[in-house]
Amino acid sequence: MKIFAHRGSSGTRPENTLPAFAEAVRLGADGIELDVQLTKDGELIVMHDEEVNRTTDGRGAILSKTLSEIKELNAGSWFDEKYASTKVPTLKEVLDLLVTRNYRGMLAIELKTDKEPYPGIEEKVSQLLTSQEWPFTYGYSSFNMSTLERIHLLEPETQIDFIMGKSEKKPPMALERSFIQGLHPDIRWVWKHQDEIREFPLAVRPWTVNKKAEIKCCIDCGVAGIFTDFPEKALEVKRNDR
Ligand code: G3P
Ligand code: CA
Repeated sequence: MKIFAHRGSSGTRPENTLPAFAEAVRLGADGIELDVQLTKDGELIVMHDEEVNRTTDGRGAILSKTLSEIKELNAGSWFDEKYASTKVPTLKEVLDLLVTRNYRGMLAIELKTDKEPYPGIEEKVSQLLTSQEWPFTYGYSSFNMSTLERIHLLEPETQIDFIMGKSEKKPPMALERSFIQGLHPDIRWVWKHQDEIREFPLAVRPWTVNKKAEIKCCIDCGVAGIFTDFPEKALEVKRNDR
């Protein structure tokens, strides 16, 4: 079972920031997950919410701000004052960090188009990711199937996974598209389907699995991976299970 640091090591560092990703690399997480959104001037930034309110000292929609306006924000103090100098990273800055740290795991790039369609985001992300070789492997995921269809056309060989909540209507959408390789459901879907996971035709990687007992249950029911805010804890549970 692969351990993905959800938004980096977001339980111990401000989510989706360079300190969170650096910590995930330092811990030896198998995978790192991040969320990509688009600014008013068409720059790719890494943030979970469509608005900056929760994770910075600013207010308003990402789409209403230029990159230089986003760069003025403090993206660390909300988590801990010692991260007061932490900025919202661009996707390029995260990739550069992973290269500098010689990260060799899997990068799960979530395209956050389920609330804002961000026209052209797929082309921009793909252009950046295909512009050079990386020490790590990467794949794309989204709640938005149209985004996945678009990115698959751009990069037919790249791993693509469908993210969902717990609705039973969603798995068939993934199963009927042969380019979808994995299903990333809310953990509550896994609890309802524990006995079927090993036979399920797609790799199942639930989110967000933070408690030790839940991490252990995921190992036992045979999921391919988990997304966790606490990769250090999850790696320890995995080590102790051997
Ligand atoms: O990759 C799964 C997970 O990140 C989806 O949920 O809301 O944390 O982006 P969310
Ligand atoms: Ca995400």
